[in-house]
Amino acid sequence: MARSSCTPPDRWDVITGDCRGYMRDLAKQAVDHTITDPPYTKAVHDNARNHGEDFSRINFAPLENLDFLADILRVTRRWSLAFCALTHLGAYEAEAGKLWVRGGFWHRPDGAPQFTGDRPAQPGEGVAIMHRKGRKRWNGGGHKAFWSVGVEHVDRVHPTQKPLALMLQIISQFTDPGETVFDPFCGSGTTGVAALRLGRRFIGVEFDLEMAAVARERLQAEEAGLSLAAWRAGQTSMFGG
Ligand SMILES: C[S@@+](CC[C@H](N)C(=O)[O-])C[C@H]1O[C@@H](n2cnc3c(N)ncnc32)[C@H](O)[C@@H]1O
Repeated sequence: MARSSCTPPDRWDVITGDCRGYMRDLAKQAVDHTITDPPYTKAVHDNARNHGEDFSRINFAPLENLDFLADILRVTRRWSLAFCALTHLGAYEAEAGKLWVRGGFWHRPDGAPQFTGDRPAQPGEGVAIMHRKGRKRWNGGGHKAFWSVGVEHVDRVHPTQKPLALMLQIISQFTDPGETVFDPFCGSGTTGVAALRLGRRFIGVEFDLEMAAVARERLQAEEAGLSLAAWRAGQTSMFGG
């Protein structure tokens, strides 16, 4: 997995492995943007489970600190965005220091209600927005750091899969065609599907072997202009299934 520099892939690459090791071997500003969705803490997962949200299918370990963030900020030339629990925006701000820009908010209009009825339901998730020192530029004009997008049910293959419609908005606002988008915690590869659809390149890292394979399938399906289900059906029939 080790590599000393990052050659932007023709279109995309998904690496199976631990992103912390992968990033340590990357040169400074090796990728144009990092847009990612790391696991949240155990407390956030447990709290969500106990108070109404359906995190019960989460099958990957929580992360208890931001020890990956310094490497993200080092290897990224322009924007670094990370989804996080609202309660963790402050921790990102502290860790990012002068590279902090602001906290954004993904509103989930169809999120789970508060089943216990004893407090308001969780309205959505935070988006930690950071940028290397120097001039910033984005394509969002006067848009606020606020995105309201419901959960999707098409090609749903990961327990905390981000909606493709959300990732399409974010990638078109923050990145330009031809640039490389990096997702070190890529899960099922939703960031990559959105990046390819918008003419960006993509590098993903995922340490779950099966999920990395799913991310590759989704990217191959995207290149073929098919849904994952249609692409899988085509693969099966090609081999006489
Ligand atoms: C919140 S999920 C990402 C979901 C993704 N946004 C999607 O739409 O499918 C986080 C992913 O990071 C992976 N992961 C956790 N720690 C990792 C690490 N150190 N290196 C690479 N992947 C990791 C987990 O296996 C999980 O699939």
